[in-house]
Amino acid sequence: MNAKGIDPGDTSVEAVNLREWRREYDRLVKLPTDLMEERSRIVVQAQEAWLTARQDSDFSLFKPWLEKTIEINIKIADCLGYEKEPYDALLDEYEPGAVTSEVAVVLNSLRDELVPLIRAIGDASRKPDTSILKRDFPVQSQREFAVEAAKAIGYSFDKGRLDETAHPFCIDAGPEDTRITTHFEGHFFPKAFFSVMHEAGHGIYNQNLPGEHWGTPMGEYVSLGIHESQSRLWENLVGRNRAFWEYWYKRAQKRFPALTDVSLDDFHFAINEVKPSLIRIEADEVTYNLHIMLRFELERAMLNGDLSAADVPAAWNEKVRSYLGVEVPDDSQGCLQDIHWSGGMIGYFPTYTLGNLNAAQLYEKAAEEIGDLDAMFRAGEFTPLREWLTDKVHSQGKRYRSDKLIEVITGKPLDASSLVRYLRSKFGELYNL
Ligand code: CO
Repeated sequence: MNAKGIDPGDTSVEAVNLREWRREYDRLVKLPTDLMEERSRIVVQAQEAWLTARQDSDFSLFKPWLEKTIEINIKIADCLGYEKEPYDALLDEYEPGAVTSEVAVVLNSLRDELVPLIRAIGDASRKPDTSILKRDFPVQSQREFAVEAAKAIGYSFDKGRLDETAHPFCIDAGPEDTRITTHFEGHFFPKAFFSVMHEAGHGIYNQNLPGEHWGTPMGEYVSLGIHESQSRLWENLVGRNRAFWEYWYKRAQKRFPALTDVSLDDFHFAINEVKPSLIRIEADEVTYNLHIMLRFELERAMLNGDLSAADVPAAWNEKVRSYLGVEVPDDSQGCLQDIHWSGGMIGYFPTYTLGNLNAAQLYEKAAEEIGDLDAMFRAGEFTPLREWLTDKVHSQGKRYRSDKLIEVITGKPLDASSLVRYLRSKFGELYNL
């Protein structure tokens, strides 16, 4: 029992609901109205300034707003309270209970493994031919194919639907109504297909939350890092897996004559191209995490007073150079590319990489418990994996905080080893390292 009469180890429905309502209440009452009004005012103006700054690639227009955003977030962190550093209080909003210094240890060890891996891939002589993905892929066929795959992995169209928007997303109004969107491009296959796999992964989580607890914490998802683990798992660990395509590729070739002369190996290599680039949202499975690392490091340094807003562009460019080996030509393709900071969201970025780490650790455990997942995928069987995830993750609602959930399921705290093993083995094979 703690001072509030809640036993943190009690995972009964009542205790979980009480624990989470208490947490939410405590956070809210600690934040004074005038501070939150000020924050809203800053966000509105910061977003406007960011849009112009990005358009003109002129950081000086956004700089004062980034300063104000950091200042207000420090004030918010001070009100919320934290043990070690202000970042803890902000990260907690998205990843309840996470401690920045602990997350940093895991992310740092991942970064230290990925930087040399990316360099080795860059030096490899074997390269995929990605032009095969830019042929004619009629939108209607893409839609039918993506729907078929989403159904097969367990996304229910009785409790959801697929629509088109500029940017893909998943939105839910409870487990009985969870909808996903995508954006089709007639001359580029991967965009819509993998975004549907991704959003379907989010959707499958929502659709399998315990409906009887809907409206209470026990019926809600754990954290953004756990939500993202479900989308990344289906998008990458399953959707970019060779065994998955051993089942689907013949079907794809039937729908898309453009692929008739393309071998499965060439297709699989192309959808797994690793190419350091400037833009996070276009990044591949390997380089993506370094885009996150650098944002996390800069945010943390700004909050700790070790980096001023004025020095952000130079620090950004330096990190892109040292992590990815790429030169940033202008700030619109550098520190102005993401909407998050202008939206006041500091502490959000790590959840993306936590998603990848969680996904790899869960997947490794699933393979250990269920058996040969590749053999199942080759036979078009995705239900055993989906049911395992529902049992272990979805149906648990908010019973455990993310770190505890991973430990309960996999028997150890989150670390980078599963993701590193997975990336090394897959890309080592593809690029002949
Ligand atoms: Co997502």
